[in-house]
Amino acid sequence: MISIIVPTYQEVKNLQPLSEMIQTALTEAGESSYEIIIMDDNSQDGSIEKVAELQAIHPIRIVTRTENRGLSPAVIDGFNEAQGDFVVVMDADLSHPASAIPKMVAQLRDGESDFVLGSRYVEGGSIDESWTLWRYINSVVATIPALPITRVKDPMSGFFAIRKADIPCSQNLSPIGYKIALEVMVKGDFPVVSEVPIHFVDRIHGESKLTLGEQLKYLRHLRRLYQYKFQTKAEFFQFAFVGASGFIVDLAFYLVLQMFGASHTVARAISFWPAVTWNWMLNRTITFSHREKTKKTTQWGAFATSSLLGFTVNYGTYYTLTKYVPFFTEHMILALIIGVLMGMGFNFSISNLFIFKK
Ligand code: GDD
Repeated sequence: MISIIVPTYQEVKNLQPLSEMIQTALTEAGESSYEIIIMDDNSQDGSIEKVAELQAIHPIRIVTRTENRGLSPAVIDGFNEAQGDFVVVMDADLSHPASAIPKMVAQLRDGESDFVLGSRYVEGGSIDESWTLWRYINSVVATIPALPITRVKDPMSGFFAIRKADIPCSQNLSPIGYKIALEVMVKGDFPVVSEVPIHFVDRIHGESKLTLGEQLKYLRHLRRLYQYKFQTKAEFFQFAFVGASGFIVDLAFYLVLQMFGASHTVARAISFWPAVTWNWMLNRTITFSHREKTKKTTQWGAFATSSLLGFTVNYGTYYTLTKYVPFFTEHMILALIIGVLMGMGFNFSISNLFIFKK
């Protein structure tokens, strides 16, 4: 069965033409098993009565929401309502052609794709002739920053299809604003994402609710998705940066202690500890600031142990390469750099997985 989720707010005039458009498209394609789920934010415009009337002819029902309003939360609640193996999300305003649904679902059914987007910007897709240049520029400008986190040409689209079993767990979905398809695409990290061309038409009845406020929310949403997508890379760079600053602390203590009469071996053995403490403190407050704040002494102890082991990996790599690989006897600096990277990679993995808990 195909579950078609339609988020609505004051769309009473569109409910009948929408149901008819879906019925025509699906019956022509031989898809008789479907349900239309209207996820309505308590519109109070007669939508409930209209759906009751349409139920005589169409497999349609309405869920009235009164809390956590908004397009994206409505769709997420709709995922939990859906009974079908395939879920399609589309707008109510007839801007998304239901005729694309059979093709979108066929790609999921045949295993050709894991997430299918109705797309205006692939070959064969188009937008309403009535679009002004300003609206077009607006759409393109909004699209560009989303391209690095997706593999599609139309990441702003609100029309998509997915297998019910592949929907990311609702606790992992936290969109701000309108871009639910973008959220599901990024969080789902699907092996194959495809785009089916659509012709996007402007609504006839009612008004768009896409206000400036919603567009600003999109920027916050993007920031959140970038953090999600590139989190490990960003953490690694910050960890490396902190490590470099820790090296300066190490060196400073090493030199100052000798100025006060310590031997170089004693100075070296002592300078490690303020450097480790410095690194731990910065990683706790900057690199992994969003992680759980566990007990300081235990965490410091674990970090110092991991750093000592990291140093062993670092030195062991250097020693092995220069002793057993002839190339590195000529290129000791290279062996040293590889050792430092191996040690840092080890330290980062242990810190990321075990010390700074998620
Ligand atoms: N439940 C609920 N709650 N539904 C909402 C809400 C809300 O607060 N706001 C809007 N909707 C519903 C509308 O009733 C409609 O069915 C659908 O979400 C899209 O809303 P519109 O306000 O018509 O959006 P739009 O046409 O300007 O934007 C659409 O096209 C854009 C591409 O140009 C959306 O699909 C966008 O996500 C898309 O980027």
